[in-house]
Amino acid sequence: MKILGIEHIGIAVNSIDKDAPFWKHILNLPHRGTEAVENQGVTTDIYDTGRGKVELLEAMGSDTPLGKFLEKRGAGMHHVCFEVDNITNAIKELKEFNIQVLSNEPTMGAEGYKVVFIHPKSTGGVLVELAEKS
Ligand code: CO
Repeated sequence: MKILGIEHIGIAVNSIDKDAPFWKHILNLPHRGTEAVENQGVTTDIYDTGRGKVELLEAMGSDTPLGKFLEKRGAGMHHVCFEVDNITNAIKELKEFNIQVLSNEPTMGAEGYKVVFIHPKSTGGVLVELAEKS
């Protein structure tokens, strides 16, 4: 597969309203948008550093995967996302190497990207997201 760079880092927060001002007003990162990603049960709030983005993630409920993560681990680093040129090929290749991907098909992520997640067990402990720009 071809990795095109770090697309964003995902940070789990308890509240976008409470936690976004640091990124928005202290670091002065340009705001790209706030979006509900229903299929992941998250609201994303995205900032652009110019070289990779910061994606704040708020859970839509305590019964969502992110809600459970927050309960167990608390707020903080959640995942790192790499941009790929072709996500379908990437998934196929990962499966050939017995890497544990969390879905067999790409799903729709924030900003219209096609995304897939790789289980931390397969990566040395970090949840990894791959994303292809649509
Ligand atoms: Co992400």
